[in-house]
Amino acid sequence: MLIVANWKAYVEDLPKAKKLFAVSKSHAKKNANIIVLAPPAPFLGALAARNTSAVAFAAQDVSATVGGAQTGEVTAQAYAGIGATYAIIGHSERRSAGDTDALVAEKLVRALSHGLVPILCVGERERDSEGRYLSFVREELTVALEALAPKEREKVIVAYEPLWAIGKTAADAIAGNDLTEMTLYIRKVLAELVPGKRGEHFLVLYGGSVEPENARTLAENSGIDGFLIGHASVDAHTFGALVKNLA
Ligand code: PGA
Repeated sequence: MLIVANWKAYVEDLPKAKKLFAVSKSHAKKNANIIVLAPPAPFLGALAARNTSAVAFAAQDVSATVGGAQTGEVTAQAYAGIGATYAIIGHSERRSAGDTDALVAEKLVRALSHGLVPILCVGERERDSEGRYLSFVREELTVALEALAPKEREKVIVAYEPLWAIGKTAADAIAGNDLTEMTLYIRKVLAELVPGKRGEHFLVLYGGSVEPENARTLAENSGIDGFLIGHASVDAHTFGALVKNLA
């Protein structure tokens, strides 16, 4: 499984970042899971600089700009230069802060043009009984991928993160059968957007209150390729237990 640890702004000091990195390295060595850490930018630079382990790094976001007079922006090129190989794009917390579908599409272009594998986050705000959440997710995928050439589209990893499930507890995460439905649906839409590629070609992750208690059940039979983990990735003991449960 692909396990992406989204540290958000939970980690604010280097010793803690180093401890989480050490735990991740030892788990990456012991089992077949691929671990990708998405630390705040300064810690990404510090940890990736001397990384010789199997752990990879992701930017939590990239700028839509190409550089220049843009105070506070961190470009895809800058991230690639300090050792990131993935980039989370369109996380709901960035979308709440103003990222539109069009901006997300620009960020995808930037990430890909510097060799970063984009992890595109999509997900509805709430579930409705008429199934509008499906067309919502379709729209997010379509606007994002249509900005890319077909050859680039197939490189995108999709993380399904329903907003209603983020930052809660295992009991509030999505039900297994609902995740199975959405995973199939996302693969169907991706196959439509990338002619010649079957839905199974794509990596689809789930994020939203994945904890040690529910990770394995969610992984089994849902057709998911991995997880994007927030709060459960920033406590060394909890994250270790979670990764172990998925081994
Ligand atoms: P959570 O966050 O695991 O804390 O729900 C997931 C995410 O927002 O990526």
